[in-house]
Amino acid sequence: MDDFLWWRDGVIYQVYPRSFADSNGDGFGDLRGITARLDYIKSLGVDGIWLSPIYPSPDKDFGYDVGDHTAIDPRHGTLEEFDTLVAEAHKRGIRIILDMVLNHTSDQHPWFVESRSSREDPKRDWYLWKDKPNNWASVFGGSGWVYDEATGQYYFHMFLKEQPDVNWQNSEVRQAQLDIFRFWLERGVDGFRLDVFNAYFKHPGLEDNPTKFGLRRFDRQIHVNDMDRPEMMPLLGELRSLLDSYPERYSVGEPFIPTPEKTASYAGKGKLHTAFHFFHIDTDLMPKWSADHFRRQMLDLGKATGDNYLPALAMSNHDITRAASRFCRGEDDANARIAMALLMTLRGTPFIYYGEEVGMRDISLSRSEIMDPPGKYYWPVFKGRDGCRSPMQWDNSANAGFSTGKPWLKIHPNYMERNVSAQENDANSMLNFTRRLIALRKEHRALRDGGIIFLEPPQKDLLAYLRLSPEQTILVALNFSSKTRTLDLPPGDWQPLLSTIKHDAKISDNIELAPHEVCLLKSS
Ligand code: NOJ
Repeated sequence: MDDFLWWRDGVIYQVYPRSFADSNGDGFGDLRGITARLDYIKSLGVDGIWLSPIYPSPDKDFGYDVGDHTAIDPRHGTLEEFDTLVAEAHKRGIRIILDMVLNHTSDQHPWFVESRSSREDPKRDWYLWKDKPNNWASVFGGSGWVYDEATGQYYFHMFLKEQPDVNWQNSEVRQAQLDIFRFWLERGVDGFRLDVFNAYFKHPGLEDNPTKFGLRRFDRQIHVNDMDRPEMMPLLGELRSLLDSYPERYSVGEPFIPTPEKTASYAGKGKLHTAFHFFHIDTDLMPKWSADHFRRQMLDLGKATGDNYLPALAMSNHDITRAASRFCRGEDDANARIAMALLMTLRGTPFIYYGEEVGMRDISLSRSEIMDPPGKYYWPVFKGRDGCRSPMQWDNSANAGFSTGKPWLKIHPNYMERNVSAQENDANSMLNFTRRLIALRKEHRALRDGGIIFLEPPQKDLLAYLRLSPEQTILVALNFSSKTRTLDLPPGDWQPLLSTIKHDAKISDNIELAPHEVCLLKSS
């Protein structure tokens, strides 16, 4: 694996720090908790950890409203504990990726406090101020503009009113933001996940967006003036040069309102290393579980990315209903296994969301329990993102082994059966299935950066594709249906690599797939 690049060929594990492991019993996950679980993370076979924000934050958007980009929230720990986490992770060959939230700050951030203090303040222009609002909206609901009594102007916020957008067109802002990267690079951080990076730049004259039909106010606009601005391209180049001036550093962008084409224009040589592709994106309100859905998405994505970069793939994260809750009925993991197999074998770099490896489900909350602001605003159409953020289910002890204190968010009642410890001891568990898939990826180059060819299966509920490298060809066959399906195999000497139903004999002309079977075959 000479040319193995951790950020391209590896597997990344997303940790939502407040929900992962609590070392001091305050019910809130912390850095020491994560450090204590590094051996577990290593045992999965992953190469890097993406930490959702760990900075001081008034917590209006659960850490995504940053009060200081170069410090650690005391509830998570200290900078020294962060250094220990990085050092211990590196000892185990695990890289650390930080979440960079640079489109906006908290309204408590010293920059904004200064900016709002007077129209003459030197930092006034660090945010977007206007005498009269334009038509831009907040994605979390309502107008994007808030009137500030003290100075008689409006400021813009794409997200919460407590998250004012910074003015990236200002050169001092740009320098200050790049200095944040430098601060963490010098501390040994390996990479950055860029929160809504394509919204950084706004139209210099803050012009209205054109309008269109849509349900929410935010959707009734074509977002050409409040995001995806051409001014962003030179910044991506500058950022890439900065990262390239350190060895093996990395950036992954979170595109906001993405299309494969738009996203692809931001990644590749001289730009970001990669950007996310989310499989849920066109199915938020109506989850789709179909072979054809994944096939079409990957074909479109492949057309857009070409060979320019390997996309970052995610089935779950802290913003969306967990894959297992979207795709499975009750506690049956058959579809979660198919989803995990897709994640590990499609062409891209997989991101696993903590707990996905044991098939964690979303918790359900009553209206009064909802904490997430967009959930409160849009209820009952959208119930917020708390559901996918519940504490990690480590074992069947009190609070699922997450904390000795009262967890900040409730734990899924299924934790007594569904937890890491129970699955460790079960060879056929979702956890060990995930480990096997990750190990197969490591062993087989075709699964990492090989090409992909989708086969034409006889039925639509069967998904089959080849992953190819000069050394080997791997066939992935996934039966989405509850019926047996037969797939004709391309000519070759096919050996089973993995099957959820145990195909261990040699297979030749065709293969009969059991309901919901995942099967990987290899021909060399
Ligand atoms: C995207 C993040 O993933 C989400 O959690 C957050 O609310 C918004 N960006 C605003 O930072």
